[in-house]
Amino acid sequence: MKQFSGCRWLLATLSLAITASFPVIAATADGKSIYNRFCIYCHGEKGEGDGPAGSLSGVDTGDLSNGAYMSQLSDQELYDRIAWGEEKFPYLQMPGWRSSLSDGEIRALVKYVRTLAVDKGLLTIPSPKEREQKFRTDPLERGRIYYLHYCSGCHGKSGHGDGEAAKNMTTRPVALSNPGIAATITPESVNDYLTASKQRKETRNMPVFEDDFKDKVDEIVLYIKMLAKTK
Ligand code: HEC
Ligand code: HEC
Repeated sequence: MKQFSGCRWLLATLSLAITASFPVIAATADGKSIYNRFCIYCHGEKGEGDGPAGSLSGVDTGDLSNGAYMSQLSDQELYDRIAWGEEKFPYLQMPGWRSSLSDGEIRALVKYVRTLAVDKGLLTIPSPKEREQKFRTDPLERGRIYYLHYCSGCHGKSGHGDGEAAKNMTTRPVALSNPGIAATITPESVNDYLTASKQRKETRNMPVFEDDFKDKVDEIVLYIKMLAKTK
């Protein structure tokens, strides 16, 4: 999370600097160079999701080169996903780009992203519609995505306390999937821990989350308890 928001911050700063110093970019709008500046870190050169920053955000960056999957999205749908990101499509945990990139730049990106698609055979993963539907109707799926996004960087994808960002930490993140720990966790206790214990800010390694996080906690806890069961 720390890493992911750091990366976000860096990208936002970068994009501001770039849009300020190259105001003509929209006119020339070269999708490839915009992609290489803003997107490659996570999505990778070929769009396969293997960029260096991809693994820091616990959420898989998906495969923009999967022809069967990408062909399910119209140009407008692709545009909206890039422009609005998780704000309108919360099943895709990526910040939207509309505040850093112009309409012309996003259009150029849509064109360029299309060129990344290659034929990888029939669709074997859920389609965009199925994913969106699942996110809307299944609290456990929302918990999974929020957990991966906000917690897995430290607590690990399976909750063992072994996330990427935990490697250099002096205090080990708790193994939340340990049944003993998972059993004592409630949405209230986790929410207090995430948001209300600001007085302990200096003495802990765990970041303090914003208050608007509350609506996600129930589902995250549901997912943590499921991790403990399947351990
Ligand atoms: C900090 C990492 C990061 C950066 C930088 C980034 N993305 Fe993403 N992107 C993601 C993640 C994570 C998702 C969600 C993937 C998923 O759940 O399948 C995503 C999803 C998408 C999707 C939706 C794919 C789908 O399954 O519908 C598109 C399109 C996309 N990104 C394009 C871009 C473009 C274009 C840029 C550059 C302007 C960019 N991304 C920059 C992490 C990133
Ligand atoms: C930057 C790393 C980091 C992230 C991100 C993070 N944690 Fe933690 N967490 C820790 C560390 C380290 C501890 C161990 C105690 C401490 O230093 O605060 C901890 C402790 C906890 C505890 C206390 C367990 C106990 O009973 O002692 C809970 C609950 C918890 N985390 C839940 C979460 C949830 C839920 C998320 C995601 C919304 C999350 N954490 C995100 C690092 C992190």
